[in-house]
Amino acid sequence: MPVKTATFDRSFPDVNRMDNTPLPEFAFIGRSNVGKSSLINYLANQKNLAKVSSKPGKTRIINRFLMDKSWYLIDLPGYGFAKLSKRTRDQFDEMITGYLQKRKNLITAFVLIDLRHPPQSIDMEFIEWCGVSEVPFQLIFTKSDKVKKTEAQVNLELFKAAMFKQGWEDLPTSFITSSTKRQGGEEILSFIEDCITT
Ligand code: GTP
Ligand code: MG
Repeated sequence: MPVKTATFDRSFPDVNRMDNTPLPEFAFIGRSNVGKSSLINYLANQKNLAKVSSKPGKTRIINRFLMDKSWYLIDLPGYGFAKLSKRTRDQFDEMITGYLQKRKNLITAFVLIDLRHPPQSIDMEFIEWCGVSEVPFQLIFTKSDKVKKTEAQVNLELFKAAMFKQGWEDLPTSFITSSTKRQGGEEILSFIEDCITT
C-alpha cells in the first residue's frame, strides 16, 4: 500500500530527548550519500520531504517523520563521517548507537547499502556492530538503476559472502531499490505493514 500521508514531525539531538509515543519506529541508516533522503521521499511520495544533496550532509540530528499516522520513519545521520577508531563503540557516533540501542519503539533498522560498490568495510563494520549489539536490521540496496544487472548480482553475492564470513547464518530480508526509477519501495512498505499488523 502506498503511503497516503507523510509529514515531518520533529528533530531530536539525541535519543534521551525523545518523547514517549505509542507508535512503532523504523530507522533508516547508511553511510552518507547512500541515497537515504531520496528513498524517504520516494516512499513518502513527495519531492522534498527529506533534503537531497549531491554534497554529503553534515547535520547530526535525528529526524522523525509521521507516516500514515501509524508509524514513524526515523532518519538517522549517516555514519560515513564517523572517524574509525580501534573500539567499535567509538566508530559510530553516540547519536546513532544510542538511538538503536535504547529506543524501545524501534521495530527494526534498515541499513542502506550502495549497490554500485562491492562490500565496503564501514558498512560491514556497522552490520557487525548491529549483530554484537543485538539491533534488528534489514538491508536496502540502493541506486540499482546505476549498475547493470550482472554487476548488481556480483555485488550482492560479494555482500552475502562478506556476511557469511562475519559469521551470520541467516541473511536479513534484503530489498533492491532505485529511488530514481521508483523500484523496490512497495516491498519495503509491505514489510513494514506486516511488522505493524502482526
Ligand atoms: P546525505 O543525507 O547527504 O548523507 O545523503 P543521503 O544518503 O540522504 O543521499 P541523497 O538521497 O541525498 O542522495 C545522494 C545522491 O545520490 C543524490 O545526488 C541523489 O540524486 C543520488 N541518488 C539517490 N538515490 C538514487 C537512485 O536510486 N538512483 C540514482 N541514480 N541516484 C540516486
Ligand atoms: Mg540525506
